[in-house]
Amino acid sequence: MALFFGLENLRSPVLAPARAVANWEQELFMPSPAVAFARQNQARFLEELKDLLRIPSISTLPEHAGDVRRAAEFLVRELQRIGMEHVRLIETAGHPLVYADWLHAPGRPTCLCYGHYDVQPPDPLEEWLSPPFEPAERNGNLYARGAVDDKGQMYMHIKALESLMHAHSGQLPLNVRLLIEGEEEVGGEGIAEYLRQHPETLAADFALVSDTEMFASGLPTLCVGLRGMIYTELEVRGAKTDLHSGLYGGAAPNPFQALCWMLAQMKTPDGRIQIPGFYDELQAPSAAEMATWKRLPFDEEKLLHDEMGATALVGEANYSVLERLWARPTLEVHGMPGGFTGAGAKTVIPAKAVAKVSMRLAPEMQPQRTFERYKQFAESICPAGVTVEVRLIHFGDAIVIGTDNAYVRAATEALHTVFGRETVFIRSGGSIPIVGDFERHLKIPTVMMGFGLPDDNLHAPNEKFCIANFYDGIATLIDFFERLGK
Ligand code: BES
Ligand code: MN
Ligand code: MN
Repeated sequence: MALFFGLENLRSPVLAPARAVANWEQELFMPSPAVAFARQNQARFLEELKDLLRIPSISTLPEHAGDVRRAAEFLVRELQRIGMEHVRLIETAGHPLVYADWLHAPGRPTCLCYGHYDVQPPDPLEEWLSPPFEPAERNGNLYARGAVDDKGQMYMHIKALESLMHAHSGQLPLNVRLLIEGEEEVGGEGIAEYLRQHPETLAADFALVSDTEMFASGLPTLCVGLRGMIYTELEVRGAKTDLHSGLYGGAAPNPFQALCWMLAQMKTPDGRIQIPGFYDELQAPSAAEMATWKRLPFDEEKLLHDEMGATALVGEANYSVLERLWARPTLEVHGMPGGFTGAGAKTVIPAKAVAKVSMRLAPEMQPQRTFERYKQFAESICPAGVTVEVRLIHFGDAIVIGTDNAYVRAATEALHTVFGRETVFIRSGGSIPIVGDFERHLKIPTVMMGFGLPDDNLHAPNEKFCIANFYDGIATLIDFFERLGK
């Protein structure tokens, strides 16, 4: 969401050149040695991040598997260099995990820092103003695929730890484990499996994730809820081979049209999903939580025009936009590979058609159960003459996080120190599958403290990270760790 209510004036970067802000606390003029180190090393931190961004670690494309591994190895070297211990690659069935720890602060809490070093594919390439894997600075932003999601944000954790280590002769104020995955953008199977097999090696008091957005520029934000998701494929088959559409059209089944007909029955034009039982377990967010959403500086026009550049918002009209984005389930078609898509004309009835379809889930909805309902429904509406195969590609649970704990309090204090404002608590419609597992399997709360902005173009052309947020994020993380170590 693009929500610029003149809030830019309120941002008070500790690391960027100082601008006078009324409610800056005195201590901000005397940054801790670690914050001072981070400030002195800003330029180097940014150059290192650019090196990481040059590696096209696109987890979904098999031809980039070597690049994904190179990004993991880059992080291993970096974690070793800054003084972390037990630094290693953990192999999975897919891309490797990166692990490191430093556990020499007895009596202090243990933080599990999570991030991901894989990125989304960069297409459509022609829409990028500078190449996706050649990081470029423009107007205070760093443009590259992965700049904010999540290489830049994950790297803030490493730079905060480096600064603390450097300022305290190789010591940290608290215990830290780092677990960075290379498959988040493809569902995170490897990390989920590792966490189930070896929960003891990840023992911690809380998890820290910087892979979310601020509600608006300069407005410190903690994310307390994510939607779950299931990602599926529908494959419809008709004849045993492609057929001449003149010789057979009129008598042969058309898998594409069968598939479109099925998809059209799944969701009404006003966004109501028609799968029987789909909404059965759903519960509305509490009145108290929704009341806080009403107080957010939300501007529907800006969302529609500036961010989306569309002509109308769609969806369930009897729910507020934020509720639709954060707490209601959805069903989306992503693409329909197959058939003839080249230039010109080809008169063929394709033998098969595929649709990639995902659903975002509200907290009470179980991915497996939802998938079964969807599969049954798809099979029940499959027209005569074709068959449908329904495949589950990946899934993840939704999560809603409590805010009444010492870690969230320390985070809001750290955000206040750096940004000089009260923190807002929001949800996001996006998904980070492993966060649910932190709660369910490790039984620990997660602090989702992200520094992305609503116009950062995640997953889209011209992804960027606001460079001031990169620096402020590092300062906030240092302050957060120092507070928890007191
Ligand atoms: N970091 C995003 C999710 C996100 C973005 C959460 C902004 C909150 C605010 C993450 O990398 C992502 O894109 N997740 C995928 C998950 C999926 C592929 C399992 C998503 O949401 O589509
Ligand atoms: Mn991410
Ligand atoms: Mn992502």
